Amino acid sequence: MRRILVTGGAGFIGSNFVRMLLDEQDCFVVNLDKLTYAGNLENLAGYLDSDRHKFVKGDICDAGVVGSLMDEYKIDSIVNFAAESHVDRSITGPKIFIDTNVNGTLNLLLAARDRKIERFLQVSTDEVYGSLGSEGMFTEDTPLSPNSPYSASKAAADMLVSSFGHTFGLRYNITRCSNNYGQFQFPEKMIPLMINNAVNDKELPVYGDGLHVRDWLYVYDHCTALWKVLSEAEPGEVYNIGGCNEKANLEVVRLILDRVGKSEGLIKHVTDRPGHDRRYAIDASKMMGQLGWKPSVTFEEGIVRTIDWYLENEKWLSDVVSGDYQSYYDSMYSGR
Ligand code: NAD
Ligand code: DAU
Repeated sequence: MRRILVTGGAGFIGSNFVRMLLDEQDCFVVNLDKLTYAGNLENLAGYLDSDRHKFVKGDICDAGVVGSLMDEYKIDSIVNFAAESHVDRSITGPKIFIDTNVNGTLNLLLAARDRKIERFLQVSTDEVYGSLGSEGMFTEDTPLSPNSPYSASKAAADMLVSSFGHTFGLRYNITRCSNNYGQFQFPEKMIPLMINNAVNDKELPVYGDGLHVRDWLYVYDHCTALWKVLSEAEPGEVYNIGGCNEKANLEVVRLILDRVGKSEGLIKHVTDRPGHDRRYAIDASKMMGQLGWKPSVTFEEGIVRTIDWYLENEKWLSDVVSGDYQSYYDSMYSGR
């Protein structure tokens, strides 16, 4: 049985990954999460009592906690989701992004190197490649060219990971995925934010002209890709993961309004994000060809499933937008 340390497993993608592992794979999961504003134990409801899951509240920057968990639970693999993940927050406050995304990853790498673990999987992002014009796609050979403090911190972490492979022989993989959507995503990110606003008849704040393009992947399909890499990839390989679902933001926002049954009059174009990347598109042919992975959910199915999940899980949504969310929203959007 594989014994995996999942970091950030109370966040959006991490919690979906832990759920998938416990449902579908025979492995033991230690889940280390600091429970920042983005971490939520409700995302793991029904899974916290499993005898194959040990949740620990703690920081990946804490060497003592990381080392003792790895020894106590005889960890053979790390899957590192823990991060500050929101681009807008990295613009208003970049320091924590370096603390967690760079120094936290370094701390995990040191613990992994010292224990010679079987695999270190770094969950990275397509944003490390920068922005595309109207043509072309990111491949694994595209040079890193990050544009935001968030993506710069993720690129730095990627380089640390590969340097530990080169210098110390660490058995690692890096995955770079496009935009995820689905259940349990915190409503600072575009899709759940727009759903929440539409439900509450609030304006939908579209940055700039709304023609920025993202390549959307249903979160479950990201999780199956990560498992494929963890269980089948050769060490040292980097994989792009994406859904081949390029959509302009305005198109996604219109779909949400239509499903929620609200008027397009709620759309408000607001001041653009500084340094806003225009287009991301992922060439995932290496994942598909070498590992036989493919997405199982089309964007058309996945977006309906996601909107309906938020409509049906009103309590989850109202809980996460209580407390600090309102002051975050006001500081980011009022007068914009
Ligand atoms: P998220 O913000 O929803 O969750 C991050 C989790 O990490 C939270 O549970 C938080 O409490 C935890 N965390 C933060 N700092 C920590 C620390 N110092 N120690 C321990 N735990 C800490 O993020 P997400 O959207 O689920 O993204 C997960 C990972 O996937 C990130 O590394 C992100 O860069 C990457 N990624 C995200 C996307 C996307 O579309 N969301 C796409 C590609 C890659
Ligand atoms: O590409 C992968 C990345 O996708 C991940 O690495 C990041 O962790 C994740 O946050 C996401 O980054 P984006 O910046 O693309 O996601 P976000 O949901 O913030 O924005 C998606 C698009 O929508 C982007 O073009 C900005 C726009 N947007 C966003 C918000 C929050 C708006 O127009 N209005 C908004 O209010």
